[in-house]
Amino acid sequence: MSIVILKIGGSVITEKDIVSSARKDDIDRISQEIASFKANSSDALIIVHGAGSFGHPQAMKWANAGFDAQGAYLTHTSVKALNSIVLDSLDRAGIRALPVHPLSSCLLENGRLVEFQLSQVRLMLDRGVVPVLHGDVVMDRALGAAVLSGDRIVPYLATAMSASKIGAGSNVEGVLDETGAAVKKITPVSFIDIKKHIQGSASTDVTGGMLGKVSEFLELAKRGINSRIFNASRKGMVSKFLYGEDVGTLIADK
Ligand SMILES: Nc1ncnc2c1ncn2[C@@H]1O[C@H](COP(=O)(O)OP(=O)(O)OP(=O)(O)O)[C@@H](O)[C@H]1O
Ligand SMILES: [Mg+2]
Repeated sequence: MSIVILKIGGSVITEKDIVSSARKDDIDRISQEIASFKANSSDALIIVHGAGSFGHPQAMKWANAGFDAQGAYLTHTSVKALNSIVLDSLDRAGIRALPVHPLSSCLLENGRLVEFQLSQVRLMLDRGVVPVLHGDVVMDRALGAAVLSGDRIVPYLATAMSASKIGAGSNVEGVLDETGAAVKKITPVSFIDIKKHIQGSASTDVTGGMLGKVSEFLELAKRGINSRIFNASRKGMVSKFLYGEDVGTLIADK
């Protein structure tokens, strides 16, 4: 079974500068692009979505002081609401999908993902169901609770599930250079020079924005697994990625 992991950025599915504002038209468009791919392909698909304005501003409020139970609850409830909007849209597009909440299936240690219950995810894939995960607040052995970003879930899943195609759709064409053009490829070696042009996010983002994303995906590349960062806000790009076209920026080992 060939496994595809698609991360849909919170920058795509939410209005990042307006708290808890979903971009429902974009979510529906992406659901349609996924549905037509599923109709033509036997690949198994895992979706991970970002938290956008349903998670970053909320986590920002609680993370510095360390999440207490109420902070964790309010942040989780908020991202779960976005997850439900995504699931409803996938359902309307005819995609059989189920939510997998990291708060209930993952464990962190100082922000590092140390345990991930994957039996449910595997069984879903065996049954033709699309698991839909998301950035979340997760219990942490050292910190009590901490944020687990979608960008960190993707490399973990890619390795654990031996995924063959991995991509993150965001609201920019890819990783942009100093002229604003998307870089074709980033490797651990070329990153040394390109890094100075990559920043966090223009909006509230507690997980490092683009620099965080590239850093997570470079760790994956060092393990020999390539991935792509592309523009999922642009119509047809999720479809192109799913069909294996060379979209956006390739993150590779060499
Ligand atoms: N060199 C760069 N190339 C591309 N984007 C960059 C660069 N430097 C900074 N950015 C910022 O990173 C943003 C994308 O990261 P961001 O974390 O906001 O999106 P996301 O990961 O899709 O959302 P979420 O974290 O909610 O899932 C871009 O919108 C841009 O503002
Ligand atoms: Mg981000």
